[in-house]
Amino acid sequence: MKVSRVLIKKLKQAVKYAYAPYSKIQVGAVLYCANGQIFTGSNIENGSYSLTICAERVALFKALSEGVKDFSLILVYSPQYDFIIPCGACLQVLSEFAPEIIIATMNKNEEFKFLPLSTLLKKPFKIGR
Ligand code: THU
Repeated sequence: MKVSRVLIKKLKQAVKYAYAPYSKIQVGAVLYCANGQIFTGSNIENGSYSLTICAERVALFKALSEGVKDFSLILVYSPQYDFIIPCGACLQVLSEFAPEIIIATMNKNEEFKFLPLSTLLKKPFKIGR
């Protein structure tokens, strides 16, 4: 799969907006939606550490809060972490809205790995199961 220059540029811009003074791990995410729209996110930390939100959930919540619900791919990148993969909490949240989504992760050399969410979180928690 080829990731467009536009997505990569947006991803690198999102990383610049990360607020990560505590961990110093800056993360960017680009959510590619079925209708072609793109939403970016970056991690936003807080001095009360547990209030931190990951880049992936920022991107997802931006899209959902604008009425966009169909997602194809989420691309993630951190300059400080080789081939970063969304944390368990983000996988769980993604599974609620986009169980079929593909996770793409990029390293500093702009190489990619593609992983379906279902391979990273095999048994998501679901009410009523
Ligand atoms: N982080 C993300 O934004 N996404 C991930 O997939 C993993 C972790 C952030 C949260 C925190 O600001 C920093 O990376 C270190 O955990």
